[in-house]
Amino acid sequence: MLRIGMLTSGGDCQALNAAMRGVVKGLTSKVDDIEIYGFMNGYKGLIYADFSMLTAKDFSGILTQGGTILGTSRQPFKLMREPDENGLDKVEAMKHTYHKLNLNCLVILGGNGTHKTANMLKEEGLNIITLPKTIDNDLWGTDMTFGFQSAVDIAANTIDNIHTTASSHRRVFVVEIMGHKVGWVTLHAGMAGGADIVLLPEIPYDIDVVTEAIDRRIATGKHFTIIAVAEGAISKEEAKLSKKELKERQAKKKYPSVAYKLAEEIRQRTDQEVRVTVPGHMQRGGSPCAYDRVLATRLGAFAARLILNQTYGYMVAIKNGETTKVPLEEVAGKLKMVDPNAGIIKEAELIGISFGRRTKK
Ligand code: F6P
Repeated sequence: MLRIGMLTSGGDCQALNAAMRGVVKGLTSKVDDIEIYGFMNGYKGLIYADFSMLTAKDFSGILTQGGTILGTSRQPFKLMREPDENGLDKVEAMKHTYHKLNLNCLVILGGNGTHKTANMLKEEGLNIITLPKTIDNDLWGTDMTFGFQSAVDIAANTIDNIHTTASSHRRVFVVEIMGHKVGWVTLHAGMAGGADIVLLPEIPYDIDVVTEAIDRRIATGKHFTIIAVAEGAISKEEAKLSKKELKERQAKKKYPSVAYKLAEEIRQRTDQEVRVTVPGHMQRGGSPCAYDRVLATRLGAFAARLILNQTYGYMVAIKNGETTKVPLEEVAGKLKMVDPNAGIIKEAELIGISFGRRTKK
């Protein structure tokens, strides 16, 4: 008898269901005697033993379905060692649920925060396999996370739609794209959508360079500009502040988000009409794109293979087009950021995209 538990944790994204389907199909093609426990709403389900017993049937027909059939929630890692409002020790409670159900393995689908807790559970002696999900693509140890390409498609489509109206009205548009800590979605959607200026958390922007790029376009007869800005983009002045100072400044902010601040800075420095578009959680919604369906299915099947081989303590990953495994302790607590000197950035700069920084002629 094989008993596995499964949960999805953190912000949702496309292809979570596709990945779980991959795991279950991979296991049930080899093992008849299997019990699948689906924990509801992330780690909460494991803490409070809120689960459903599922069968292979529950994972059929969900390849294209967005969201997660198990529900999800954010349970910050830093609070995991703190008792809940009733004094419950969450880590002990999770271990208790796992042992009570006599699980062979717990399959966890999540992003950065989720992986810190997954690694802690591994250190506490549980058999864990994780799958890399997040639109942000910021998980260390994998070239790609599922959800990323779907979000890029949606964000790029937003920029496409903005193009026509920006051009008709000769306006500057600031399109704010998800990513507080990293700029992967903004970079790829910005390039795919033909944005003129792309601002990322990894490359603090110089507002003078941004307005010069707008002026240069006008001087060459292009009377509209599209700026793709990541939620977490910061100016070069803000980059000099400590984390604490930056947080304090942002807490006092006058603007709902970075796009509005940037729009105001541009209005003050140019005579351009500026508008803001924020696609927000649309970027995490709807059906996974074909790429993500394939990636999630491959990662799910590879996770099943590890479980069948009783190989635990790993995140499944994709590297150079091949599925592989990475020890959880190597993943937990690390961010995969955009390298400001990467080839993709240099190629974008060569074709005239401004990252709000000065470049050599
Ligand atoms: O981590 C994924 C992500 O979509 C980020 O890009 C975004 O900043 C954040 O989640 C939004 O979180 P929430 O859904 O909690 O508002």
